[in-house]
Amino acid sequence: MSPKPVLHTIPPDIVAAKDYAVYARERLTDMAWEYLDSGAADEVTLRRNIEAFQSISLKGRMLEDVGGGHTRLSLFGHVYEHPVFLAPVAYQKLFHAEGELACALGASVTQTLMVLSTLSTTPLEDVARAHGTPLWFQLYLQRDRAVSLELIRRAEREGYRALVVTVDAPLAGIRNREQRAGFRLPDGVSPVNLPPFTPHAPVGAGQSLVFDSLMPSAPTWADIEWVLAEARLPVVLKGILAPEDADRACRMGVAGIGVSNHGGRVLDTLPAAIEVLPEISEVVNGRAAIFLDGGVRRGSDVFKALALGATAVMIGRPYIQALATAGPLGVAHLIRTLREELEIVMAVSGTPTLARISRAHLRL
Ligand SMILES: Cc1cc2nc3c(=O)[nH]c(=O)nc-3n(C[C@H](O)[C@H](O)[C@H](O)COP(=O)(O)O)c2cc1C
Repeated sequence: MSPKPVLHTIPPDIVAAKDYAVYARERLTDMAWEYLDSGAADEVTLRRNIEAFQSISLKGRMLEDVGGGHTRLSLFGHVYEHPVFLAPVAYQKLFHAEGELACALGASVTQTLMVLSTLSTTPLEDVARAHGTPLWFQLYLQRDRAVSLELIRRAEREGYRALVVTVDAPLAGIRNREQRAGFRLPDGVSPVNLPPFTPHAPVGAGQSLVFDSLMPSAPTWADIEWVLAEARLPVVLKGILAPEDADRACRMGVAGIGVSNHGGRVLDTLPAAIEVLPEISEVVNGRAAIFLDGGVRRGSDVFKALALGATAVMIGRPYIQALATAGPLGVAHLIRTLREELEIVMAVSGTPTLARISRAHLRL
């Protein structure tokens, strides 16, 4: 069945993030859908990201005066209207003809921070100059440091406000649903910010593809030192799950830690991001901002993440489903929906500001 056209109004039965999934499915090719929706291997982590949020109960606090409440936060010298950020998602022209530009327009309408992927299908300059959207740049460190440095400098020149270095995907995960669908990038969809791809060294007889070909060029802590020395922007490490790694990153001077399992896309049976957040927040102990992503689907999930120590959250698949369904309008509508849900939870938890949200507002 060929994909249905993008909508220009929001159907009345889309009232929550998850309602976008059905509409998005009908508007994407099988390959694009499997690329977006699947997780690594048996998708245990993918499911766990969602279930872990559902297993946490709110407490609910009544009769508090929440007058003057708001969802604003101040971060790295800028004020953001709310703590729901758009996680970096590669190849957005797979999901909408205007790709990252459509997304940036939806984000700008709602004053939402968007993190642009290294694997963007639109030049990072075009995204920066299009809609005045607050932007951070996500960096996949490249084999050649000169290529990484050029990306960092371009992002700095264009006014990106932070650098998000993703450290949990040195290899593409094995996503079986994507493999079964025979996923490949269609013509016209490519990572335009990068120089043409040069294949990894071929493996000889008796050699390992992973250890002899792919991993020798994967980033290490020494590369993070290098980024911290070179970058003029605050650096966030995305994809941290172990408290030991969070501590090391803080000692090196990162500005932020992204607690994430890459939406369950790389290594299956990792814990849910929200499950490890309390341990990470304990070791970080205020030394860096903390961002959580993976399974955020409700305003109450945002509240729970903040209560357990996150500064803000990021969403991935939901906004891409909204983009595929109704372009910028869908993205803006989804964000507004999540923000309203968050405001309601805040109001009925007696927390008029994000700073007031704490573990005491959960029933642990
Ligand atoms: C289709 C897709 C592409 C992604 N591409 C990137 C990427 O280029 N860089 C990155 O750091 N994370 C990438 N991610 C991971 C997201 O930034 C984020 O960690 C994840 O989607 C959060 O989980 P959620 O989808 O449950 O919200 C991608 C995720 C998806 C679903």
